[in-house]
Amino acid sequence: MHTAQKIMKVFITRRIPQEGMKILSQAGVCKVSLWDSDEPVPRAELLKGVAGAHGLLCLLSDKIDTEVLDAAGPNLKVISTLSVGFDHMAMDEIKKRGVRVGYTPDVLTDATAELTVALLLATARRLPEGVVEVKNGGWSTWKPLWLCGYGLSGSTVGVIGLGRIGMAIARRLKPFGVKRLLYSGRTAKSYAAEVEGEYVPLDTLVSESDFVVVSCALTPETQGLCNKDFFCKMKNTAVFINTSRGAVVNQEDLYQALSSGQIACAGLDVTTPEPLPTDHPLLTLKNCVVLPHIGSATYSTRGVMAELSANNLLGGLQGTDMPSELKF
Ligand code: NDP
Ligand code: DGY
Repeated sequence: MHTAQKIMKVFITRRIPQEGMKILSQAGVCKVSLWDSDEPVPRAELLKGVAGAHGLLCLLSDKIDTEVLDAAGPNLKVISTLSVGFDHMAMDEIKKRGVRVGYTPDVLTDATAELTVALLLATARRLPEGVVEVKNGGWSTWKPLWLCGYGLSGSTVGVIGLGRIGMAIARRLKPFGVKRLLYSGRTAKSYAAEVEGEYVPLDTLVSESDFVVVSCALTPETQGLCNKDFFCKMKNTAVFINTSRGAVVNQEDLYQALSSGQIACAGLDVTTPEPLPTDHPLLTLKNCVVLPHIGSATYSTRGVMAELSANNLLGGLQGTDMPSELKF
């Protein structure tokens, strides 16, 4: 006899691209409730929405902690995050409860690497300053030293965290004429040979690089890694770029380093908090370019991320393979 399949409950914490919604609605295995907004779900609504859910599709701005897991209760089988980063989730607690986790590696690597290169060039060559000067009448004539910056040709680039995105950044930067490509992390990578990457201790990377690019995961070890001590070791002419997570940087120390001329300039796609308050001291500095966490923001990338997170969710609900399951 055919047993009717049980419809499972899913909560989605935000509007997501329709590619993902379509997959879920066509699957016919779950009833979706959605925080139907482009703004973050209020905490109380998250706790209410997740109650009794079998699946949760969340974003990097949702803190998935014990309280949320308790609110969800024992039905919860899978959490699918629309991100590759998973520092917003209490992994130990999730593991303890046997909940599977899906995430979105690889599909956003190219977009994020591309944005990192764009931010690096915009910061080092002072593009935002130049645009402002054109508009406000500051462009009086061609001047030999006006708006000069730093170029990649013949430079040393240091990548902190030569993972998927770090390697994609290195691949894109090398053809600009980078002379040495240094990287640091927990282990040397055989694939670094492709970019002639030299595995060096962090101190060496920081003191010898003209461009320091942070692309590691946020972990207890990397939290606050870029602090006073770190910036003091950098060259006065060096450019600092972070597209990983804001908390890898001590922002007070970065402000001091930028305002005192300890380092030349910084480009950040990620901050703490997000959004960065409009009166934050970093935003008063001409030598600091801040973007609103748009590393993976291309239409196609976000569409594929939504598809992948929907398929991850379905795999978790049905107890089958997930296209990108986080093994932890
Ligand atoms: P990967 O897991 O491929 O790479 C992460 C890297 O972090 C690894 O190479 C790892 O090095 C390194 N790492 C871990 N611990 C340390 C440490 N203690 N010191 C130095 N390096 C360390 O992830 P992805 O490349 O796919 O993504 C990286 C991060 O980028 C994400 O976690 C996310 O936070 C961020 N991101 C930001 C985006 C944006 O919009 N700005 C978009 C997408 C991602 P090792 O292997 O040696 O441990
Ligand atoms: C991630 O995926 O971790 C990014 O920060 C957003 O795409």
